[in-house]
Amino acid sequence: MRKKIVAGNWKMNTTVAAGKELAKDIVAALGKVPKDVQLIIAPPFTHLAPVADVIKGSAVALSAQNCADKAKGAFTGEVSAEMIAGVGCTYTILGHSERRQYYGETSDTLVAKMALALENGLSPIYCVGEMLSEREAGNHFNVIKAQLEEVLFGLSAEQMAKVVIAYEPVWAIGTGVTATSEQAQEVHAFIRKTLAAKFGDLAKDITILYGGSCKPSNAKELFACPDIDGGLIGGASLKADDFIAIAQSY
Ligand code: PGA
Repeated sequence: MRKKIVAGNWKMNTTVAAGKELAKDIVAALGKVPKDVQLIIAPPFTHLAPVADVIKGSAVALSAQNCADKAKGAFTGEVSAEMIAGVGCTYTILGHSERRQYYGETSDTLVAKMALALENGLSPIYCVGEMLSEREAGNHFNVIKAQLEEVLFGLSAEQMAKVVIAYEPVWAIGTGVTATSEQAQEVHAFIRKTLAAKFGDLAKDITILYGGSCKPSNAKELFACPDIDGGLIGGASLKADDFIAIAQSY
C-alpha cells in the first residue's frame, strides 16, 4: 500500500516567527486529518531548526526544499543533505521546476543531489513536469519520461522505494490554473507505467503527488483519481486552514 501524502512547499515565504505560528496551527489541527495521510511541511532553510522544535513529537514531518549537490566543503551559500538531516528533516524536495528554470538545475546536478539525499537518510520528493509550450507541442510525455529516466533510473530498487514523485505541470504552478483531474491522472498513470518498466511491481508502491494550484476546492476531485496519492501544495499551504482542508479531502 502506498502512502498518502499532503506536503506544503512554503517556497521563499514567511519569517521564522510567522513560520513557527503556521507550523503550530497545523499541529493543533492534526486531529482533523485522516490518520493515514502523512503531512509534510517544507519551510525555507532558515526555519528548519525552529520549526522542527514546534512539530517535535507530532505526526507532521519536516522537509527541505532543496539540498546541495556536494557533500561538504568550500561551497559558499549551499546547504548539504547531511545538515538538513541533522536538524530533523526526513524529506527534501528535489528538482522543483523553479530550481530547474531559475537556478539552472540539470539532471546531472539532480543525480548528485538525489544520491546525497538518500545517503543521508532523506526521502527525496522528486518533481517532474512540463512547460506550457511542451504540452502544447504534444511533447509532455517525452519531457517527463526523460526527467524520470535521467535522474531515477540509476537508483537501486531499495533507493527508489524511498522516493516520492511530484507531478507539477509548470503551467499550473502558482497560476490558479489547475490541471483537470483527467489530465493529471493521465500523466500520473504514465509516470507509474514508466517506473514499472524499470522497477517492476515497486511502481505500485511509489507515492505520486500532484502539484500546481491545488486547493481545498479541487483537491477532492484530484485525490479521487486512482494514481494520485496526494498533493504538493504551494500557495495554499501558507494558510493552515487551507492546508488542513486539502488534507481532509481524502
Ligand atoms: P502552487 O505551487 O500550489 O502555488 O501552484 C505548487 C508547487 O510549486 O509546489
